[in-house]
Amino acid sequence: MLSSRHVMTMADLSPDDIAEVLDTAVSFAEVNERRIKKLPTLRGRTVVNLFLEPSTRTRTSFEIAAKRLSADAINFSASSSATVKGESLRDTAKTLSAMACDLVVVRHKYAGAPQMLAESMDAHVVNGGDGIHEHPTQALLDLYTMRERLGRLEGLRVGIVGDIAHSRVAGSLVPALRKVGATPVVVAPATLLPARPEVLGAEVAELGPVGSIDPVLPDLDVAYMLRIQLERFEGAGFPSLREYARLFGMNARRLASMKPDAIVMHPGPMNRGVEISADVADSPRSVVLDQVESGVAVRMAVMYLLLGGAESAAAA
Ligand code: NCD
Repeated sequence: MLSSRHVMTMADLSPDDIAEVLDTAVSFAEVNERRIKKLPTLRGRTVVNLFLEPSTRTRTSFEIAAKRLSADAINFSASSSATVKGESLRDTAKTLSAMACDLVVVRHKYAGAPQMLAESMDAHVVNGGDGIHEHPTQALLDLYTMRERLGRLEGLRVGIVGDIAHSRVAGSLVPALRKVGATPVVVAPATLLPARPEVLGAEVAELGPVGSIDPVLPDLDVAYMLRIQLERFEGAGFPSLREYARLFGMNARRLASMKPDAIVMHPGPMNRGVEISADVADSPRSVVLDQVESGVAVRMAVMYLLLGGAESAAAA
């Protein structure tokens, strides 16, 4: 069991909760390698994926996770839901509550939407990404992937590179790394650094004389490349995508300057040729697909622990 009813921000999870999610995910990862990838654990429970912002991998990942635990998974997407007809989030919450949903995964363009839902319904709420605020299950799957690949979390130095200002991934990854004893280092042009308090918990890297990431790389265990979130830009944060790639993009030359066992991560979707070159994205040092794979097991673990899977299995 987790100490909180909901997983809305990393603040909901203690270091023990994080350890429990990661350890539980290890056994679900094993199930995901079987020919028959299904457990009866959440039979009779209903999970609603309320995705009011575009998403492929996160929504699919939650849906697969719920189905592998035998929950009934229902998807509401932005175009199909009544929210396009002007229904308020509170009314949507009450409607879902009246249908006796057990867990709602919400993705929304507004920070705080998960909290608002949680206040208006009895179901457990998992944040699948709210605006530029947080994306806690992404941080959990990232921790899982680092631990699998590097054998530990404590003491790791993780550079989070790029568009920190618009990144809910960074918003959760920075506190998540701190809770497990790793060191987050944000690496970004000044125009892409936010004044957000949760990010203040990270070291801010000193860039090279021309502003490149080169001097930061040799000390890192992980280079976590963020997508330039052009859809969230109001003004220009950098001269051009080409200039950004030249100073901030991960490429083969930069990868060669890192520790021999250092890895490259990216939450997806990648802009190949901008924040990461195609050859690095496809190299054995990139764990992008491991992240996607771990995502299913980690989300199974979160649902299982929130819904008291062991109890519901016993009662079945
Ligand atoms: C991220 C998101 O939506 O916040 N993607 C994801 O969930 N895998 C990052 C991004 O869109 O760049």
